[in-house]
Amino acid sequence: MALLKIARMGHPVLGQIAETVDDPAHPEIRALVEDMIETMQDAQGTGLAAPQVHVAKRVVIFFVDPGRDAREGGRGEGVPLTVLINPEIEPLDDEKAPGWEGCLSIPGMMGEVERFTHIRYRAYDLNGERIEREAHGFHARVVQHECDHLDGILYPRRIVDMSRFGFTEELARALRA
Ligand code: NI
Repeated sequence: MALLKIARMGHPVLGQIAETVDDPAHPEIRALVEDMIETMQDAQGTGLAAPQVHVAKRVVIFFVDPGRDAREGGRGEGVPLTVLINPEIEPLDDEKAPGWEGCLSIPGMMGEVERFTHIRYRAYDLNGERIEREAHGFHARVVQHECDHLDGILYPRRIVDMSRFGFTEELARALRA
């Protein structure tokens, strides 16, 4: 297990299309995921994609804290730490909603982004088994954010109103006022 260095916005690895993983059950993928988990927990993130640790492969990890889900308008459903390999997302209707996002590759900042509120996603886990889930609200948002990393997209590219992008400290103060 090792803490990995997190790439910050501007590093080319964050703009690449990540490669499909040929064998999700390969021990190298498990070792990568173990390091990603340690790195995400150390950085107190809620999700992390492999390109953020300089590995351009289609692997993401995330979890959803039930309290955060409830605060973000969800049903208070938490999601345990989940590994998605070669994930695919399908929106289940056209509805989108705005919400604040941050990213470990853009430390100290946040922005408001519209995401689909109801999706289905499919992926493989570390045993090579299929995962298929429906997700709403914050859960759906986190999965869309992480999977965007696999296509070289960081959340600022999805911000519609750039006045809703800035340093978390400043925005938090302004939003409280
Ligand atoms: Ni991110």
